[in-house]
Amino acid sequence: MRSFVTFTLLAGLACAAGAQGNAVEEYTAEARAAAGSMMAALAGELKQEIASGGPAGAIGVCKGLAPRIAASVSHQHGWKVSRVSLKPRNPVLGPADAWEQQALLEFDRQAGAGAKPETLERAEIVEEPQGRYFRYAKALPAQALCLNCHGTPDKIAPGVKEKLAAEYPHDRATGYAPGQIRGAISIKRPL
Ligand code: HEC
Repeated sequence: MRSFVTFTLLAGLACAAGAQGNAVEEYTAEARAAAGSMMAALAGELKQEIASGGPAGAIGVCKGLAPRIAASVSHQHGWKVSRVSLKPRNPVLGPADAWEQQALLEFDRQAGAGAKPETLERAEIVEEPQGRYFRYAKALPAQALCLNCHGTPDKIAPGVKEKLAAEYPHDRATGYAPGQIRGAISIKRPL
């Protein structure tokens, strides 16, 4: 009798773990798709703006369009979608919470150990004081395009420097080399 109880209990636990695993996989696929389309939209827009107006003219893309895309994806799904960094440019929108900080530190460690930065992501179901959430972070590696505004001083044009200094007096988001983790797209989905 006792062994039967133990068995059913274990079977039950295994099923619960399996179901949770499937849910994480499913949520991850959805989050990955949303993050991917957000990254594609941003990169496309940045390229176009830089080609037509130079990097100083494209500052508005990272400033205005990125939060707008994040807000519209958030609204569409009922998730919280944002861009975060350990060295934010915008201290109001950019700071990472504890879970995001851990993910970003881990991305830095993995990239430092030779992992391909564009493959780095983290997905997890967490219990927080406000409830249960699926949390997802996708690393944003600094590409050549990004260095126009996030690179070392020699990579940033004088006009861009001036504009950034005027709009972001607390800017910490420069000095990146290609492939370094600039930040992450973070998705927080209430369950
Ligand atoms: C034309 C200049 C420009 C380019 C190019 C650019 N950014 Fe930004 N980036 C900004 C500005 C300005 C902000 C601050 C936006 C705001 O006010 O919220 C920012 C903010 C961010 C943030 C939000 C966290 C923070 O630091 O505040 C991330 C993440 C980010 N950029 C990543 C990238 C990546 C990755 C690329 C390349 C694909 C890139 N950026 C290219 C200007 C730029």
